[in-house]
Amino acid sequence: MRFSLRRNDDEPIDLLNTMCSATAAQCRWGCGDQCAHPAPNPTENEYFGDILDRFVSRRSLLRGATAGAAMAALGAAPLVRNIGSVSASEEGVAEAQSTSGLAFTAIPLSNAGTVEVAPGYKWRTLIRWGDPLSLDTAAWDMATNTAQDQLNQFGYNCDNIQFFPLGANRADRGVLVVNHEYTNPELMFPGYSADSPTKAQVDYELASHGATAIYIQRDAQKGWVYVPGAGVNRRINALNSTILLSGPAAQHDWVRTTEDPHGYYVTGMLNNCGGGQTPWGTALTAEENFNQYFANNGTVSDPRKKAAHTRYGLTSGASERKWERFYDRFDLAKEPNEAFRYGYIVEYDPHNPNWTPRKRTALGRFKHEAAETVVASNGHVVAYMGDDERFDYMYKFVTAGKYNPDPEMRESNFDLLDSGTLYVAKFHDDGTGTWIPLIQGQGKLIPENGFNNQSDVCILTRLAGDLVGATKMDRPEDFQVNPVGGKIVCALTNNTQRGTTGRAAADAANPRAVNTHGHIMEIAEAGGDHTALSFTWDIPILCGIPGTDAGTYYGGYDQTKVSPLSSPDNVGFDKKGNLWIATDGQINTFKKNDGIFAVPLTGPERGYSKQFLSGVPGGEVAAFGFDNTDECMFVSIQHPGEGSTYAAPSNTFPDGGTPRPSVIVVWKESGGVIGS
Ligand code: FEO
Ligand code: CA
Ligand code: CA
Ligand code: CA
Repeated sequence: MRFSLRRNDDEPIDLLNTMCSATAAQCRWGCGDQCAHPAPNPTENEYFGDILDRFVSRRSLLRGATAGAAMAALGAAPLVRNIGSVSASEEGVAEAQSTSGLAFTAIPLSNAGTVEVAPGYKWRTLIRWGDPLSLDTAAWDMATNTAQDQLNQFGYNCDNIQFFPLGANRADRGVLVVNHEYTNPELMFPGYSADSPTKAQVDYELASHGATAIYIQRDAQKGWVYVPGAGVNRRINALNSTILLSGPAAQHDWVRTTEDPHGYYVTGMLNNCGGGQTPWGTALTAEENFNQYFANNGTVSDPRKKAAHTRYGLTSGASERKWERFYDRFDLAKEPNEAFRYGYIVEYDPHNPNWTPRKRTALGRFKHEAAETVVASNGHVVAYMGDDERFDYMYKFVTAGKYNPDPEMRESNFDLLDSGTLYVAKFHDDGTGTWIPLIQGQGKLIPENGFNNQSDVCILTRLAGDLVGATKMDRPEDFQVNPVGGKIVCALTNNTQRGTTGRAAADAANPRAVNTHGHIMEIAEAGGDHTALSFTWDIPILCGIPGTDAGTYYGGYDQTKVSPLSSPDNVGFDKKGNLWIATDGQINTFKKNDGIFAVPLTGPERGYSKQFLSGVPGGEVAAFGFDNTDECMFVSIQHPGEGSTYAAPSNTFPDGGTPRPSVIVVWKESGGVIGS
């Protein structure tokens, strides 16, 4: 099998990144040291920055200042002086002519110790880590709580939020499905020792991972409230939840383990970050940085498996978490296949807690971020997905079958995500792009290259993308399909290795050559058909502080008036088609709290970013979602106080004392849709 890997575990690791200033805890637990290890894509597939460079330089429609800003993003320092020179009047924009409906007053970047929202808006904590899901669950108390308690409490580090309305158009009841991406043991346990975690702590952490489904009700005074004891309340965890493997990779030799010799099921899911929901009302939750949980790839004897694990960033020695001391499944020396059972999109039915969740392997295996679905005009369902790693790829999946919208036939859609075609994106210089199908037997995806069947493609998706020449991206995170116009937006968080290793050198005077702040991409499928094989693309936003960070661009809007943002992560649209962006990294890049920003993508206010919410120190505004009236917004405040310890927390959100990752609800005091 030829995986074309040029690196292996035995070669010395070059610490390429010199720009990331995230806390050690954020690196270790949040992203599995994304910045401290070389990006594990060693192929020579073309890097997106190179394409953007040529694309921007050829765009005759871009005016000088605009093109200058974009070019500066690629390290063209002399053009930086153009930033901020496009005035509103030059743009033909009059603020009084607002068409977006975003009338709220923007708030500034902040270091405040608690959440801040735009004037006229209120927020309260909806549910926090440790809050009970049933009436007989122990109250949260880290002096006495065990893993068994946590199995029935809200988990740690809430992330992606999906709202499922119950009832009529203006739902006053619903189910909220919230991911629990990872754990910060140093903030969770009194006296935690990273060198010698106890089994009780490890079990508690396994119980804290996964997702929660909770029943919520609208409340006139409190926005929404959750209801302990409701029948739909459920925890999916990594300690004892059963999740079926479905689709092509199920039963493959490489997903068989001692615990599961036939490759049918997995105990739990790990590092569930982004997600989405299906047209038939199920939640999709994405396993992201699963690599960090596994130890000892250096001992794996099968060179094909070892190379595959290396491409997914698995470490050769002990894991940071050291769970392998207590569970063989995290020790590749004993269970070399276990890691092939993570890195999938998991489907969960929030309306039926007795339905066993499925890992939908047809959607490929990588560090999954989003799984945003849309029904194409021809009835097929399309899921857009990112692989959140520097220099990795964008994907979409098109179902073989068609969506049945008949509510009576809802469950006939439940297996749609098990068969279809997985595509990876290739971006061309001229503003077009191609979706390359990842079909075994086609092109280079043949036995000579290690692809014997479609199951191999679904397990070794990154390697398939390498072979077909997919375009390396700057950490593709969340996607969202605009309900107005149908374009797809993707957040590319950052890539601090850009310009290193044979690329244009980064230095202090050209910080943008290292993509510190990230950008937003807009994709239009050919003919508006989401199943199309080609598309056009644009870059409406290059993030950063205008006038300070080289190469910022906010849709051509007057950059002196925008709210600057950095490290876009989670994205969503309101019903008017305004883009809302949650950030993950401003604490590192701006030295300010992360936040939520609203920005129109069309009309005279295109690019007019306004900050709506500010998070908390050490925390990330990991995700948000609207209720189905857009009158309330749910927000995940993840890892408050990260970088400190249980004994001396740097932040005490939300109640004082031990910081507790929480979902909050935000609403307009006088009523009306969020942002109005
Ligand atoms: Fe967990 Fe890609 O953010
Ligand atoms: Ca994310
Ligand atoms: Ca989204
Ligand atoms: Ca994140």
